[in-house]
Amino acid sequence: MDGIIEGLDRETITRRTAVKVIGAGALSLLPGCQAGGPPNADASGLASSKRKRKTNIATSKRLRVLSRSPLSAEPALDDLAESFITSVDRFFIHNHGAIPQIDASSYVLSVGGDIPHEESFTLDQLRNDFKKTSIVATLTCAGNRRDEFSRIAPVAGAQWGPGAIGTARWTGVLLADVLRKTGVRRSSRHVWFEGLDETRPKQESVRFGGSIPLNVVYRPKTAQPGVLLAYEMNGQPLEPAHGFPLRAVVPGFIGARSVKWLGRIMVHAEPSDNHYMTQDFKLVVEDSNAAWSGADPLSGYLLNSVICEPAAGAKLQPGLVAVRGYALPPGLGDLRVHTVELSVDGGDSWRPATLRSHDAPQCWRLWEAKVPVRLSTTSLIVRAHDSAGGDQPPRLPWNRRGYQNHSWHEVPVTVG
Ligand code: MTE
Repeated sequence: MDGIIEGLDRETITRRTAVKVIGAGALSLLPGCQAGGPPNADASGLASSKRKRKTNIATSKRLRVLSRSPLSAEPALDDLAESFITSVDRFFIHNHGAIPQIDASSYVLSVGGDIPHEESFTLDQLRNDFKKTSIVATLTCAGNRRDEFSRIAPVAGAQWGPGAIGTARWTGVLLADVLRKTGVRRSSRHVWFEGLDETRPKQESVRFGGSIPLNVVYRPKTAQPGVLLAYEMNGQPLEPAHGFPLRAVVPGFIGARSVKWLGRIMVHAEPSDNHYMTQDFKLVVEDSNAAWSGADPLSGYLLNSVICEPAAGAKLQPGLVAVRGYALPPGLGDLRVHTVELSVDGGDSWRPATLRSHDAPQCWRLWEAKVPVRLSTTSLIVRAHDSAGGDQPPRLPWNRRGYQNHSWHEVPVTVG
């Protein structure tokens, strides 16, 4: 499979090659990327060792690489539709800079802003002094399905298909518990996150960051998962590519707000002024200062549904065809996926799919159906409805960064 990472087992490579392989996704056994990390770490735990070393790559990932540096990679869709919990080797990766190497033993998270005293926490303090909490949440990139916009007019950035999404069991500490311990002033309205990675969106180097409203953190006790500072993903320490040693997981929000390699949390009266809140992750058509400053930063993801199987371009026999995929409820509010429907005649008529996975808040739902295709069928289309009667638009107007494509998903097929 062109571009899919596999078959890297037991290769002995130099450090230089290893960095290339980091880009290709086989990350988990690289020295310096595990708990403990490399020597020569600075105060925040960032490591500076650049020595060439030999290592064994004994694992591989099943991801298609869209960009090597910074790394963006997504799984094949048939892999994705297989299970409610996405295994780490099939979980998309989206980085805006190089993966920072962080020494867990000297890592500290600092918390500041509108709080009585600036505080800092080591990884051990976070693990031992707070209640260990697990949540299940779907993470999806605002650029998921960007490639469909690029068919209308070019859109810069990784050309994501519908694989920039995954559901994991995240374990760590509730951000609410940490903020309760530090105390937060009444004037505070927003929580800012800042990563330890250096990114270069324009000329200058900036740390990746963003913010969320504070009331999301102190959600009343509903079934919704809280905002987590996660150190584990699916029962294992976070891998470097997914934010080792600590990341935010903000259920219901676009993936950009789940900041990885978390270095600093701040509470403030205003939203973060980080580049990725003010100059990116907005719906704009024109690239003008007025357009960027006039648009709101994206927050919740939108109702969506995708056909994972059959693949685009599949050759089918007339008769009943098995179709599988995922549907995502809107991220904000306590909404669920209500129905998923398929059309084999360009949207003239629809038949229901069966929802087959758990119905958990802020999580996707897997579905399946058998639909009759005829010689005249040229595509399969899916759309979903949410529990408040919301639905997906048939088409979505183009936007400059190709964000939030949640229109009906159409897969071209030939029958005969
Ligand atoms: N956090 C940092 N520090 N740097 C990043 O580049 N990318 C964001 C978010 N957090 C990013 C980050 C984006 S756009 C997404 S979609 C998610 O991480 C992807 O998380 P994943 O790579 O673990 O799937």
